[in-house]
Amino acid sequence: MSPNPRASELYATTQIMPSILSSDFAKLGEQVAQVMDAGARVIHVDVMDGHFVPPITIGPLIVSALADQVHDAGGVLDVHLMIEQPDRQVEEFTKAGADAVSFHIEATPHVNRVVNQIREGGALAGIVLNPGTAVTAVAGAFEDIDFALCMSVNPGWGGQPFIEESLSRLQALRAMLPERHALQVDGGIDPDRAPLVRAAGANMMVAGSAIFGRADPAAAFRAIADAASS
Ligand code: DX5
Ligand code: ZN
Repeated sequence: MSPNPRASELYATTQIMPSILSSDFAKLGEQVAQVMDAGARVIHVDVMDGHFVPPITIGPLIVSALADQVHDAGGVLDVHLMIEQPDRQVEEFTKAGADAVSFHIEATPHVNRVVNQIREGGALAGIVLNPGTAVTAVAGAFEDIDFALCMSVNPGWGGQPFIEESLSRLQALRAMLPERHALQVDGGIDPDRAPLVRAAGANMMVAGSAIFGRADPAAAFRAIADAASS
């Protein structure tokens, strides 16, 4: 199955991706509508299994619950799997409506198998690197993937401080990745950090607490988007 053309289009542009991890789950649809009305087009979904990282968060049911709303508003769903054995779960997420799926290179010895599963499900495929993983780890998979995600915090929780070394890691990744590949960054992004990670080569920035942790998520989204394009 070929990927959603809307996703391929959006991943070639600068995007702030609101992470629903920090949203009010009792008002999830409403909060997603607020940030999409403010211009968000890529909604980031953090899936944690209680093994790869300690917390347990959400699964394909939430992706499926949001899929029509997000697609009808011209957006896409970006699913970040922080789980062990991602090969067991990918299909559930692509069936549920994920337009892009990323998984941690530390979580599986079967990188190419997982990438192929994601592609077969009609989604863009991304590899995620923890802050402690050498950026060269992704080198063997370049040709197969659509994007890389550089963690700028250790995965597991929203609201952690940005790790400064991430800027040089982003620069190194951008220099290694083919031009057509998107580069995402995740963790500790706010209006101050956004222009710095943009300058270091990231075109897609996840922001959780700096959007949904604020009283006005739409205004908070716009503040980061403005800062990223300044
Ligand atoms: C952390 C998650 C992030 C998280 C980021 O493990 O992958 O996507 O939501 O949250 P902030 O933006 O608050 O650092
Ligand atoms: Zn994430």
